[in-house]
Amino acid sequence: MKLNEIIALDDAYYMNTFGKRTPVAFKKGEGIHLYTTEGEKYTDFMAGIAVTALGHSHPDFVKRLTEQVGELLHTSSLYYIENQAKLAEKIVKNSCADRVFFANSGAEANEGAIKLAKIYHYKKGNTNKNEIITLVNSFHGRTLTTVAATGQEKYQKPYKPLTPGFSHVEINDLDALLNAVTENTAAIMLELVQGESGVHPTTVEYVKALRKLCDEKDILLIVDEVQTGMGRTGKLFAYEHYGIEPDIFTLAKALGNGVPIGALCAKQFAADGFEPGDHGTTFGGNPLATCAGNAVFDILEQENLVENAKNMGEYFKKKLEELKSETGKIKEVRGMGLMLGAELSEPIAKDIQAKLFAHKYLTGAVGTTVLRLLPPLIITEKDIDEFINVLKECLINE
Ligand SMILES: Cc1ncc(COP(=O)(O)O)c(C=O)c1O
Repeated sequence: MKLNEIIALDDAYYMNTFGKRTPVAFKKGEGIHLYTTEGEKYTDFMAGIAVTALGHSHPDFVKRLTEQVGELLHTSSLYYIENQAKLAEKIVKNSCADRVFFANSGAEANEGAIKLAKIYHYKKGNTNKNEIITLVNSFHGRTLTTVAATGQEKYQKPYKPLTPGFSHVEINDLDALLNAVTENTAAIMLELVQGESGVHPTTVEYVKALRKLCDEKDILLIVDEVQTGMGRTGKLFAYEHYGIEPDIFTLAKALGNGVPIGALCAKQFAADGFEPGDHGTTFGGNPLATCAGNAVFDILEQENLVENAKNMGEYFKKKLEELKSETGKIKEVRGMGLMLGAELSEPIAKDIQAKLFAHKYLTGAVGTTVLRLLPPLIITEKDIDEFINVLKECLINE
């Protein structure tokens, strides 16, 4: 189909929740490149919002998924599933978790985490300990409960009343957190680098203090690693940068490299909150989704991609810092690994994003000032150099 035909179909039938989309439809992907229906080539510096960590159409990934599709897609979790058990083992062996449950998305993994925190205290007889503190400007998903967890009014307003029991405190403000904690606080939930609101990292001292507070007050620490997890920040999980271990953490996005999957990961004592019948899913952890997760783990390891994310992240940051001094158009460079944000000195983020698009680069803009960069973890110095040259031109000519 031609692009104009796709747009006409979309206009006629799709629910318009995404507003006016960028006028392009991709037909094929290869590595860090995407090819449109009109045969144009783009370079992907967003990885489908931190999803396609291995790049597009990675040959091993394609091979393993293709074999799985030909063999078996779904059975239901009433039966044992080899891929599911293997992926749970991989996550446990590479993290602080002892148990894993698979969902279909980040929001759903976070719903599971919130349910687990509540039921953990409930089973201990603390039925009033059911409140959750999250951060202002956080993003945890679009279900009613994860919207309540998300500390952004714009996502909440039309859906009130929301799931009760959530309060929000400013990032990196320990006093605000201490004031918000009550004897009914069941959990504190946060992203260690807030992605959707413009790439804002938490500080090590804040996270360490928060961990200590949770230990002292029998509060569960839930880390949302939906965006930061699977190597994006230069470690397999972002909590490794902080010298702490969460009680519960969640994964999605890059875990499936494009195949929908989410994971709720917990220490044994917390996981014990769920007993048979307390939680469930039809699709979660099916043979196809968990085949994708296993392949992602294997390929990350074979190609040393977490290390590459660390090295390329440092290189990219250095290059952005150089652009900052050369152009004066960048105020601050934030982020970890290949989860980067450039805060621009003027409200031109959307213009710069549009100019980069005209140069066939896919990037993101948050609000009016933040240019967001989430390239696939397979990126090289050469790819970054080429992008930086184009970005420089866009900034200078702004
Ligand atoms: C930190 C974080 N949590 C949760 C979500 C929701 O994930 P999903 O869209 O897969 O439900 C996102 C999505 O952007 C996210 O960035």
